[in-house]
Amino acid sequence: MEIPDMASLKLHSRPEVFDFEGVSMTRFFTDNWEKVKNFQARPDDILIATYPKAGTTWVSYILDLLYFGNDEHQTSQPIYMRIPFLESCFQEFSTVTGTEMADNLPTSPRLIKTHLPVQFVPKSFWEQNSRIVYVARNAKDNAVSYFHFDRMNMVQPEPGDWNSFLEKFMKGKNVFGPWYDHVSGWWEKKQTYSNLLYLFYEDLVEDTGREVEHLCSFLGLSTSVEEREKITKGVQFDAMKQNKMTNHVTIPFMDFKISPFMRKGKVGDWKCHFTVAQNEEFDEVYQQKMKKTTVKFRTEI
Ligand code: A3P
Repeated sequence: MEIPDMASLKLHSRPEVFDFEGVSMTRFFTDNWEKVKNFQARPDDILIATYPKAGTTWVSYILDLLYFGNDEHQTSQPIYMRIPFLESCFQEFSTVTGTEMADNLPTSPRLIKTHLPVQFVPKSFWEQNSRIVYVARNAKDNAVSYFHFDRMNMVQPEPGDWNSFLEKFMKGKNVFGPWYDHVSGWWEKKQTYSNLLYLFYEDLVEDTGREVEHLCSFLGLSTSVEEREKITKGVQFDAMKQNKMTNHVTIPFMDFKISPFMRKGKVGDWKCHFTVAQNEEFDEVYQQKMKKTTVKFRTEI
């Protein structure tokens, strides 16, 4: 696979972040807003919702295998073609928006990805009682992963150095807004909306097979032990990193010379990035921002 030459791309500069109804966004996720807002969900849709870099692709691929494991396109179509990114509108690279892709999906049920904070989710998902799988990842690893992603992804804002990125993260000025509000907002929603499964990246790392089983029971799927074992094997980090349909190497605006998309896939990588002082400040901010929510993360594995 040829690595794209960034100079030949149609994008001339990184996008600006602006305030969109109280949340930091770029034009790539707001230009199609009317269509996103009025998107017609279906009762059998499955929405995969995450803060960026929490394990979206991982859970997407598990669901894709669970539903369409025998589909011949599965080995020839990148995951981002099979699972539309609802709010995306990358006009320089594609004439098709996320909503159009979702409207035209030939498969059923539709698997749809979003990074929207809960208050922005199109209301038809709630009206249709669609199933939603939310994945959350501990803040420190999530921040590290997001930093490397912004470095290599030309449609994301310039991250600056690690220290300035971390300051921005603590202030909630990343694209899709504060991590703190995202994970806690979706957690609150789960208390009243029963068709929402809230998963943790750390649990997936600890025991992928157990979480696949968890997903099957939420979705009412009766898969055999053998099928589940096969899927669990196929979605391990190394397998997905080698798989051109899941490692994103075909995306023209990602510069893999800077960082791979499938980077490390670990819990605790933050320890290689945070200084003692950064860690102390982060913990203080965390206590403050998370004091009202009951969602609990673990980092000990
Ligand atoms: P790292 O940057 O820490 O490696 P998203 O899909 O939401 O953009 O998340 C990407 C993050 O999930 C990356 O984290 C990536 O390596 C990790 N990831 C993707 N597939 C994984 C897998 N099978 N096992 C563990 N981590 C995975």
